[in-house]
Amino acid sequence: MPDLGIPLLTALSVLGIASGAGATAGSRSACLSFAPSSLAFASFSNATHYATNTRVNISNAYSSIDVSHLPAFCRVELVITTNATAGSTALTEVWLPDDWNGRVLTVGNGGLAGGVTVTELGHIAIPQGFAGISTNTGHDGGTDDGDWAGPHNDNAIVDWGWRALHLSVLVGKGIVQQYYRQPARKSYYLGCSTGGRQGLKEVQAFPEDFDGVVVGSPANWQTHLQAWSIHMNLNTEPSTSRHFMTEDMWSNVIAPEVMRQCDELDGLKDGIINDPRICSFRPETLTCRPGQNTSTCLTKDQISALHRIYADYYEADQTYVFGGYYPGGETEYYHGLVGKKHFEIGTNYFGYMVTNNTEFSIHDYNATVLKLADKIDPGQANAINPNLTAFAGPSHHGKLIQYVGWADQLISPGNTIHYYETVHEFTLANTTMDIDDYYRLFLIPGMNHWYGGLAANAFGSVEQASNNNPPLSFHPDHNILAAMVHWVEDGIAPDTITAANYKGNNATNGVGFTRPLCRYPSTIKYKGGDPNSAGSFQCA
Ligand SMILES: *[C@@H]1O[C@H](CO)[C@@H](O)[C@H](O)[C@H]1NC(C)=O
Ligand SMILES: *[C@@H]1O[C@H](CO)[C@@H](O)[C@H](O)[C@H]1NC(C)=O
Ligand SMILES: *[C@@H]1O[C@H](CO)[C@@H](O)[C@H](O)[C@H]1NC(C)=O
Ligand SMILES: *[C@@H]1O[C@H](CO)[C@@H](O)[C@H](O)[C@H]1NC(C)=O
Ligand SMILES: *[C@@H]1O[C@H](CO)[C@@H](O)[C@H](O)[C@H]1NC(C)=O
Ligand SMILES: *[C@@H]1O[C@H](CO)[C@@H](O)[C@H](O)[C@H]1NC(C)=O
Ligand SMILES: *[C@@H]1O[C@H](CO)[C@@H](O)[C@H](O)[C@H]1NC(C)=O
Ligand SMILES: *[C@@H]1O[C@H](CO)[C@@H](O)[C@H](O)[C@H]1NC(C)=O
Ligand SMILES: *[C@@H]1O[C@H](CO)[C@@H](O)[C@H](O)[C@H]1NC(C)=O
Repeated sequence: MPDLGIPLLTALSVLGIASGAGATAGSRSACLSFAPSSLAFASFSNATHYATNTRVNISNAYSSIDVSHLPAFCRVELVITTNATAGSTALTEVWLPDDWNGRVLTVGNGGLAGGVTVTELGHIAIPQGFAGISTNTGHDGGTDDGDWAGPHNDNAIVDWGWRALHLSVLVGKGIVQQYYRQPARKSYYLGCSTGGRQGLKEVQAFPEDFDGVVVGSPANWQTHLQAWSIHMNLNTEPSTSRHFMTEDMWSNVIAPEVMRQCDELDGLKDGIINDPRICSFRPETLTCRPGQNTSTCLTKDQISALHRIYADYYEADQTYVFGGYYPGGETEYYHGLVGKKHFEIGTNYFGYMVTNNTEFSIHDYNATVLKLADKIDPGQANAINPNLTAFAGPSHHGKLIQYVGWADQLISPGNTIHYYETVHEFTLANTTMDIDDYYRLFLIPGMNHWYGGLAANAFGSVEQASNNNPPLSFHPDHNILAAMVHWVEDGIAPDTITAANYKGNNATNGVGFTRPLCRYPSTIKYKGGDPNSAGSFQCA
């Protein structure tokens, strides 16, 4: 990580978040002689010690890290037995910092992968003093790979769905306790996309596993998400059809027109649409006039395609399936679900887990296939239960923070709002709790999936620091994980988090601007003053 000239660690020590009371230390000798006893359903394979600032160069089928700036830690590798009868296993790692903050942090995975998330163990857990846990979810493979699932590899599908992670958390907490000779004070979770789904599944099914859970753009409605991804592909393919739009059209024709119609509605012409719901984008303004070069305007077929792309997706019988794209992410949408390349996760999901037709193509998709997916719910991977009482109620007091970028190109932000609203309705109708006391949602203007985009998009979540977009500091005002710790341990719930936009989305180039992230349903409002300063905005 570059030297940002920002005192990353000082704020933490002030708040007592680094080495909290009761923290103990590990060491090289403790690591090398570590031999955990009586692990239920797991076996210990290895412990490796990395001294401060030595090179950590580790990679697997899904995730890699190659850095030389980490504090000292002990890397423990384990094999978890997920089903003894079947002999199925998962690989899990627990990274134990010498200078431990007394907490454990589990990090999630992405897509259909397939590898311990070493990137985030190294970029998030270890630098902030957390003992970190991550699993390969029971198989090795890249984000898009699906053939590990079979067909009919039921145990691997269940492991990916929830089992490998849950068992890894149980075993990982045991490892932490044995290594430091005391249990972790609190248990946290951080994940986005599939990682977001894993976090919500845990909250719903294993409410005791975590005290605080931060999820980004969760893929928690698998059956519908995968259906929607194919619906989106079908809206524009094939690339030879009259409704296809090239990358050049998305970037140079559609994107500028969206900004012309929508950008200034929030009072600031800055290329960021703060709340795309207040703009109803009308693509017909780009209709080709007689004689116009069709690379610079839209045909009737392309306009219809755009109407479908920006609309919520309903079945023929008007059943809601999923949200659509929102105006503001046009320069990235071509690389999401409406470009030349089909979204492989969708076809692999239906091919290897639902229909067992490994040749499944987007043209084999129809409403019957969606119904079949809902019936099977492969690996019970859906995480859509709105009843969070066991996690959030008086017996556990768990906290949940969720975020999503309005310009997410892979999972409609509508999905995040939809889930939040189902929990809100359930809470009002069936409990005496106040959702604000346990579940807070942040909608991030202009951010793409995980990170990136034109916005203030660096706030301490996964894939950000590892893509050179670290938080401004580790303080709860800037760092969503510290904000969660502050909520769980000090009872101070986050109202806003100040995020950074680095020039060119690269911290090496310095901070471009800062903005508050606002808690749903409030949105960011420009008060006046320097638009590059978070202080010129408020949440209202
Ligand atoms: C343990 O890790 C070290 C360092 O990576 C490696 O050299 C060794 O082969 C590993 N041992 C086992 C049993 O995996
Ligand atoms: C880092 O790891 C990669 C992948 O394992 C390997 O190809 C490369 O040689 C390693 N680099 C060094 C300097 O060890
Ligand atoms: C474990 O695997 C066996 C053999 O595949 C299977 O019959 C059984 O249902 C599995 N058990 C669980 C709990 O998944
Ligand atoms: C496809 O295989 C999965 C995993 O064994 C199974 O759950 C599902 O029911 C199968 N689908 C069909 C249509 O038979
Ligand atoms: C149409 O516009 C495209 C993109 O601006 C350009 O490359 C192409 O040469 C133009 N075609 C004609 C016939 O002018
Ligand atoms: C729907 O798709 C399935 C599998 O691709 C196919 O077998 C079935 O005939 C289709 N049903 C309709 C009504 O088109
Ligand atoms: C919600 O879940 C809790 C804990 O699992 C259960 O006791 C309660 O009955 C559920 N509430 C409703 C309304 O279903
Ligand atoms: C209240 O709980 C019942 C029983 O679990 C459930 O059927 C109903 O949908 C819940 N109400 C809302 C508004 O979620
Ligand atoms: C950030 O910028 C620096 C300096 O231009 C460059 O070396 C580095 O590769 C960039 N990092 C990323 C992730 O783009």
